[in-house]
Amino acid sequence: MESRTKLLGHPIHPMLIVLPLGLLAMAVVFDIIYLVTGDETFANVAFWDITAGVIGGLAAALFGFIDWLAIPKDTRARRIGLIHGTGNLVIVLLFVASWLLRVSDHAYSPNLVPFFLGLIGVVLALGTAWLGGEMVYRLRVGVDDGANLDAPSSLTTTTSTSTRRPGAGATR
Ligand code: HEM
Repeated sequence: MESRTKLLGHPIHPMLIVLPLGLLAMAVVFDIIYLVTGDETFANVAFWDITAGVIGGLAAALFGFIDWLAIPKDTRARRIGLIHGTGNLVIVLLFVASWLLRVSDHAYSPNLVPFFLGLIGVVLALGTAWLGGEMVYRLRVGVDDGANLDAPSSLTTTTSTSTRRPGAGATR
C-alpha cells in the first residue's frame, strides 16, 4: 500500500529515520568511549547527538504515524505498526530521560544511569527497526501499488503500473 506522505515520489518516513537511528546509536558508542577514556569531549558529543537524535526521532515519528493511520484496521500490518510506533516512542522517551539527566553536566560520571538508558534504547531499537522492515519488505506498507521491476520513474508518473508488462513483478 502506498505511503500518504511522499517527497519526490518516495515515502518521507524512511528518509527521516536514518538520522535519529544513527545519532542515537552513535551517542551510546561515544558514551562508551567516554567511560573508557574519561575524555569529556566524547560525553559532550554524545549529549549533542542525543539532542539532534530526539528532535529527528520526533520528526520521523510524525510521518510514520500519518502512514500508519492509513493502514486498514484488523490487519497484521496495523498491529505490527502499533508495536513499532509505540516502541519507538518509548525509545525516544528513554533518550529524553538520558538527556535530562546529563543536561546540567554533560560529563555525567560516576552516575551510569544516563548511559544505561541509552543502551536500553538502542537494544530496543534493534527490535523496532526489524518490525519496520517487516512492514515494508514483508507486508508492503509504503510500497507503491503495482510496484514492479520495470515500473516507470516516480518523478514522471504517480502510478507504478503504467508500463507494466504482463507477469512483471509477479512473485514466484
Ligand atoms: C524514532 C522513531 C521511529 C523510527 C526510528 C522508525 C524506524 C522505522 C524503520 C527502520 C522502518 C523501515 C523502513 C525501511 O526499511 O525502509 C519504518 C517503517 C515504518 N514506520 Fe517507523 N519509525 C519510527 C516511528 C514510527 C511511528 C511513531 C510510527 C507510527 C505508528 C511509524 C510507522 C511506520 C510505518 C507505517 C512504516 C512503513 C513505511 C512507511 O509507511 O513509511 N514509525 N520505521
